[in-house]
Amino acid sequence: MNKNLWSARFSKELDALVNEFNQSIKVDSLMYAHDVMGSLAHAEMLKKQSVITESDFIEIEKGLNDILSDIESGALKIDMNAEDIHMFIEGELTKRYPEAGKKLHTARSRNDQVAVDVRLYLRDKTDEIMSSVKNLVSSIYEVASQNVDTVMPGYTHLQRAQPVTFAHHLMAYASMFMRDYDRLIDCKKRMNYSPLGSCALAGTTYPIDRVFTAEKLGFTAPTFNSMDGVSDRDFAVELCSAISLIMMHLSRFSEEIILWSSWEYKFIELDDGYSTGSSIMPQKKNPDIAELVRGKTGRAYGNLITLLTMLKGLPLAYNKDMQEDKEAVFDSVETVLKCLNVFAPMLKTMTVLKANMAKAAEKGFINATDCADYLAKKGMPFRSAYKITGQLVALCISKGVTMGELPLENYQEYSELFEQDIYDAIDMSTCLNKRTSEGGPSAVAVKKQLKIVESFLND
Ligand code: ARG
Repeated sequence: MNKNLWSARFSKELDALVNEFNQSIKVDSLMYAHDVMGSLAHAEMLKKQSVITESDFIEIEKGLNDILSDIESGALKIDMNAEDIHMFIEGELTKRYPEAGKKLHTARSRNDQVAVDVRLYLRDKTDEIMSSVKNLVSSIYEVASQNVDTVMPGYTHLQRAQPVTFAHHLMAYASMFMRDYDRLIDCKKRMNYSPLGSCALAGTTYPIDRVFTAEKLGFTAPTFNSMDGVSDRDFAVELCSAISLIMMHLSRFSEEIILWSSWEYKFIELDDGYSTGSSIMPQKKNPDIAELVRGKTGRAYGNLITLLTMLKGLPLAYNKDMQEDKEAVFDSVETVLKCLNVFAPMLKTMTVLKANMAKAAEKGFINATDCADYLAKKGMPFRSAYKITGQLVALCISKGVTMGELPLENYQEYSELFEQDIYDAIDMSTCLNKRTSEGGPSAVAVKKQLKIVESFLND
């Protein structure tokens, strides 16, 4: 005899390979607490609506709570041969309270059960990811506050372009992660609707109260269509997409950490606790964490595509294809949490090699725009000023000097507008601190940016 709960019309045991192929317990066992939560709300609603008796409810409630604490204490091992966590918990409850246990599944289907469990689980995980994002922003804030005056080159095309500060550069990442945080809030808003009571797809003839279970479980409201309630996984896609963006931002940041810690840059040095050595080259100190984060970004993108493809073309309502949702979204959740949680302390513990950043800023003619602006502010059209500055840069390169080292006579050969004050105009700290435009790198502008981040952190 087939021992599955759904096996009444089956005369044969499920093939062992099929059993293994069909089951999802190895993945969905993570949702045991949420499954219990959903069942408790459902049972209480059934009692309130007089679908089950008070004494049945008392047994179901006790049974479910005991199962939860037994799983948590290790007294009850989840059977990895069960089909899924929903079947396992219901089966266990029925073992403990045979009559009442069998009533729990009244006016419910695994289809709305799994949909509710996944939402409850992901809602908690979204909160966890949000707090990890916030923690990362707080580390960024801390390092930035100490580097408001740390001059470094800003790059385009990976070529030194214009002067910025390390704090300014870091504030760019802070704003990316703050948007990521916002996306998670938004994603949670749409996730937070209760499919419970959709049943298999077409609701039920029992007098259920979907608003009651939605409220009990902290949902905003029940989903308004039962077929949609059990069919869509758009909330999981949205979460995977928000996670992909976090990973994309982390991966760009990782790439910079990797570059900055190379001998070619040497802008930072990672703490020994956050880097690894080589088994053969004794001099090596490798930025493995940043590389792994960059590498794991691929998994997050893969999971997003897995979900989109799994849902593409699926007819309504539930199809078993949808069981594949959890492996993908859970992997994204665990991946992003691990990455965020290791990235934040790696940042906080790194040493910023300010002198090397300043040295790099001195070279590369990143004050050339300021030289052109100097002439333009004295009345020369910007395009002409741009041309003269380009010629001056070429002259500096041929003489092997920086713009600050080029004698005034040379400047004046190109334009009479040049006076002694050119040296002040192209001085790195002037170049920086005159860039007071909103969002810019001057200390004044960056302090405003820090304030914005501060209020995000205190929110
Ligand atoms: N383990 C299944 C899943 O994750 C539960 C739903 C099964 N429903 C069904 N009608 N076979 O999707």
